[in-house]
Amino acid sequence: MSKQQILFVDDEPLVLQGLQRTLRPQRGEWNMVFVESGAQALEHMAVQPFDVIVSDMLMPMMNGAQLLKEVVRRYPATVRMVLSGHADKELVSQCVGVAHQFISKPCDPEYLKALVKNACQLAGGLMDVEVKQVLGTIDRLPSAPEVYLDLRDALARPEVDTRRLGAIIQRDPGMTAKTLKLVNSAFFGMRKSVSDPQEAVAYLGIDIVRTLVLSNGIFEVSSPIPTRVFQVAEVWRHSLAVARVAKTIAQLEGLSPACQREAYAGGILHDIGVLVLASSFPDLYDQVAETVQVQTEPLMTAEEWVFGVSHAEVGAYLLGLWGLPASLLEIVRLHHQPLAILGEAFSPALAVHVADVICGGEAEDSVLFGAADFDPELLRRPWIRERLTDWRTASAAALQQGNL
Ligand SMILES: [Fe+2]
Ligand SMILES: [Fe+2]
Repeated sequence: MSKQQILFVDDEPLVLQGLQRTLRPQRGEWNMVFVESGAQALEHMAVQPFDVIVSDMLMPMMNGAQLLKEVVRRYPATVRMVLSGHADKELVSQCVGVAHQFISKPCDPEYLKALVKNACQLAGGLMDVEVKQVLGTIDRLPSAPEVYLDLRDALARPEVDTRRLGAIIQRDPGMTAKTLKLVNSAFFGMRKSVSDPQEAVAYLGIDIVRTLVLSNGIFEVSSPIPTRVFQVAEVWRHSLAVARVAKTIAQLEGLSPACQREAYAGGILHDIGVLVLASSFPDLYDQVAETVQVQTEPLMTAEEWVFGVSHAEVGAYLLGLWGLPASLLEIVRLHHQPLAILGEAFSPALAVHVADVICGGEAEDSVLFGAADFDPELLRRPWIRERLTDWRTASAAALQQGNL
């Protein structure tokens, strides 16, 4: 495999030297270029493609946000990371849209290596370049209008608390993903990974959420997505149903509260790749929906025909780019591969898979999710077969109550 190209930009020569020293052992795998300004960075990028760029934020002439904005425009597939010592609100607003991940200075060299390595893995994957370029530029995903209105409404009330905000945000896949992206970026100084949107909101606090939503518009209320064969609202409805059912099943199987919350988060995010593909390529996604409807092909197969990738891979790619915890990425990537997630014990990933099949089977009028059956191989396991009726009964009750 060819070496990956990584560009580091910092106006402080000492910082660059430090990085160069720390990362020397990586020379076998990475070709690293170190430059002192945005202008030099763009000159290098014009000559050769880079897989990953890691830039400082405060620099004279062209700051990191300006540089990365230019990089998005010219080289959308490059993974963009900010390495910055300045964590203020102003800066958040400048770079939430242009950087995939934030790393705060001073940074543990091993941690930096791990992050860049992850980014390289994503950049080196086999996904179609056009899809990758689109994914590289995605900064937010369309949110369900009713959830967005509820959030604005809640933020306008002086007595609102983070529990209420978290409960609203976790009803929407795009808002959940974006909130987890923010909290998991080292930018906010959080050193453990967070996969629970409620916890993420509690950590950010009301003031930051208010600024991000009302002033910076980090969530996007969806303008109608021009699909003909299906409505994007199907995806929002389905995601919420799967999240609720996954949590219910996780609870029924005696998983810990943290695992129940992970099942919920995995459920709300599991089909985020559908949202990504449908909102970025509405015409092509209509072809997918048509293939599912007319030829009764599984959704994943139809997507592979049209895009060369499935929504599971696309979703996991985007969430990886956004620095979400590996456990959530796995749930998203494998939610249609039950045999790959089948372990000794029941897991949040299995809860999401089961919930997906149950909710699909019950949504007969849905174009995309209406046909779902359990893999016969899965049903050969007695401990799964025996639990099915209980799962279905509990799921139906949870959906009826709108139980969170
Ligand atoms: Fe799916
Ligand atoms: Fe699904």
